[in-house]
Amino acid sequence: MEHFLRNRWYQYGFSHELADTPLTRTIIDMPLVAFRTNTDVSILLDMCPHRFAPLSTGRVDDGRIICGYHGLAFDGAGHCAANPHGKITTALRVRSFPAVERHGALWVWMGEAALADPALIPDLSFIDETPGTARIHFTIAIRASYRLVTDNLLDLSHADYLHPDTLGGVMTGVRPTVIDTDNGVAVEWENRNVVPPPRFRERVPATQRANAWTRAEWQAPAIMLIKTALTQSGRDRSREDEVWALHSMTPESAGSTHYFVCGTRRDRMDDVEYSARLRAMLQHAFEQEDKPMLEDQQRRIGMADPDSLRPILLSIDAGAALARRKLNRLIAQEQVADA
Ligand code: FES
Ligand SMILES: [Fe+2]
Repeated sequence: MEHFLRNRWYQYGFSHELADTPLTRTIIDMPLVAFRTNTDVSILLDMCPHRFAPLSTGRVDDGRIICGYHGLAFDGAGHCAANPHGKITTALRVRSFPAVERHGALWVWMGEAALADPALIPDLSFIDETPGTARIHFTIAIRASYRLVTDNLLDLSHADYLHPDTLGGVMTGVRPTVIDTDNGVAVEWENRNVVPPPRFRERVPATQRANAWTRAEWQAPAIMLIKTALTQSGRDRSREDEVWALHSMTPESAGSTHYFVCGTRRDRMDDVEYSARLRAMLQHAFEQEDKPMLEDQQRRIGMADPDSLRPILLSIDAGAALARRKLNRLIAQEQVADA
């Protein structure tokens, strides 16, 4: 059985996914429902304590969620707010999970509520600083472990093989630099004097040479920041050249992942057609290339822990291997603390 890190914020979704109707999502095997109360977001166990109907099939009214089966109403803290069949007792309650809306995203704390400090949500203010016209969002359901998605993003050499027509062409042969950060792992690739890959041809034309830089910053258990820049050879890179993207690989279960991506950029920020072109290209890469490969890998290994199958390790795997060790250590520490 897979053990997940519980005392952490997981991305539940994007703010724009939650409007007037409840949004249900299973996170680390726990069925949850999110809904909006007057100013806040609430997340409850998506199971009515009466006959276990999913609350998400009910409706939201005046900041309360009303079960669609026999009409019990619960407030954002999970307390019963109305019982059409009799008295309200303290037993009439449903488990609530700490929830925060920040950086255009919804965050849920899956562990002990007393430890849920919003300051532990990663600083993603670059998203808030980017106008909506320059943000690109994806929500992709992947039938594969979040561990495989993490491996995928910490070893971007795969881009040359899996995404040859879009993102690839600048990775193979570059020795990645692996950095052990305080709360995670960062991997950096830099390749000078390359032919610009198709994804960047609007920045550097194919007739010129470019410097390609990418940095993937992982934080346990399931957050990745990917920063890329392609600049004309001979010119120094500035923050304006960098494209930053949040990739969250929130585990749904041991073998499935909610993959959330929010890409931002600092150039042509009002150009919605440019955003649409980038979005189409990235969507093709993630949905038609990464997702099938990850799902094929998962099918091959079944529910086995990949490490138990003794994979051969290549030089490109150093970052992913370090992240795996860190994650396993954190999970083991949490289990000891819980015991
Ligand atoms: S199952 Fe929800 S009120 Fe009966
Ligand atoms: Fe990929």
